[in-house]
Amino acid sequence: MNALKGNILYVEPNGDLIIHPNSFLHYDENGILGIFDNALNCEEIEDWGNRLILPSFADMHLHAPQYTMLGMGLDLPLLDWLKTYTFPAEARFKDPEFARPIYRKLALELIGNGTTKISMFSSLHFESTLVLMEEMEKAGLVGFVGKVNMDRNGSEELHESTEESIENTKKWILSCDKFKHIKPILTPRFTPSCTDELMGWLGEVARQTKLPIQSHLSENEAEVQTVKNLHPDCSQYWQTYQKYGLWNERTLMAHCVQSSDDELLAIKKSGVTVVHCPSSNINLFSGFAQVRHMLDLGVKVVLGSDIAGGNHLCMFDNIASAIRVSKARTIIEGPKTQFLTTEEAFFLATGASSSFFGEELPFHQGAPLHAIVLDDALLPNTKELSLKERFQRAIYRRQKDAIMAVYGNNKRLK
Ligand code: GUN
Ligand code: FE
Repeated sequence: MNALKGNILYVEPNGDLIIHPNSFLHYDENGILGIFDNALNCEEIEDWGNRLILPSFADMHLHAPQYTMLGMGLDLPLLDWLKTYTFPAEARFKDPEFARPIYRKLALELIGNGTTKISMFSSLHFESTLVLMEEMEKAGLVGFVGKVNMDRNGSEELHESTEESIENTKKWILSCDKFKHIKPILTPRFTPSCTDELMGWLGEVARQTKLPIQSHLSENEAEVQTVKNLHPDCSQYWQTYQKYGLWNERTLMAHCVQSSDDELLAIKKSGVTVVHCPSSNINLFSGFAQVRHMLDLGVKVVLGSDIAGGNHLCMFDNIASAIRVSKARTIIEGPKTQFLTTEEAFFLATGASSSFFGEELPFHQGAPLHAIVLDDALLPNTKELSLKERFQRAIYRRQKDAIMAVYGNNKRLK
């Protein structure tokens, strides 16, 4: 048994901040044993003094090959952005040797930023997708990676035929058995990218294998209109996934910025999880997702960086963006709409995805240890801050090298 000693903080699903000052977080190779005010009979104690020990982050929507275009080309709306910047960048990942060092660097940068759980889009290339999974697993991350399916509306350099998509997806799934902590997730890019035949086949695979599914939904107005034209039989975008069996409690749908109340209720009823990607929503001027309203309706919501629509891998920044986007909705709709509290937004990036991983909540007994140690000692104060104040400041303001240690799946990763 081991322990981390320090100021231990986490947020419960109801938004309560739980604070254990100067306490011991006990864990072993099977996960967390509990939080105590003494050392029990530990083999090893890491004493982090007055620092904050927080759950590490889950980034539930990001595009690994777009890491190469992070911070660039954010001057076009979604569909033009995809054709102009994104597809050419992803096309380079045809070559697994090109992919490997970039994916290795991405894994390191994720861990450096305190992210230890992921749900990630690769490119359409199945060999590079396996390289991505290898690099994520080797670095100690856990979660899901998907080979992207896209057999229409791509570009000359980034395209697969329906047959190629099916064959390569089969080969990819069969090769995933060797991974212990990185699992495959079916990844139709979005409805405009996939023919009916491919969607039908993926739905059948989902039914047979019970693999989870990730895609994009109702991100941008022009996209929603394109989907209407492609599926005149569906009055709402979500139905284009449902009709092929890609809509269930193992489905992650990024964005849902344009979703009507009917669509949000369909999401709630089927147990689909919305991945809110606030930085991306603003960068690609897609709109402000109604995150507060989704939570009030009882929709499951988690957080994603959506790099490179999003420009930050750091989930502290994405948490701050989620709060800002919810405030933008309050500005638009008036004070009847509450914005997210700091604690609620933090929960979206930590405990909210626990059920998708089939795990106990962070820092609860039985959950695997996923944690960061945060240093804020050099930031100026006029008075001694409470732990709650230090937690709030941590979201918006960090000193250089503030993340001193990162633990993922019961092991120290940084
Ligand atoms: N919709 C389809 N593909 C993408 C993508 O790569 N990024 C974002 N933000 N939306 C998408
Ligand atoms: Fe995305």
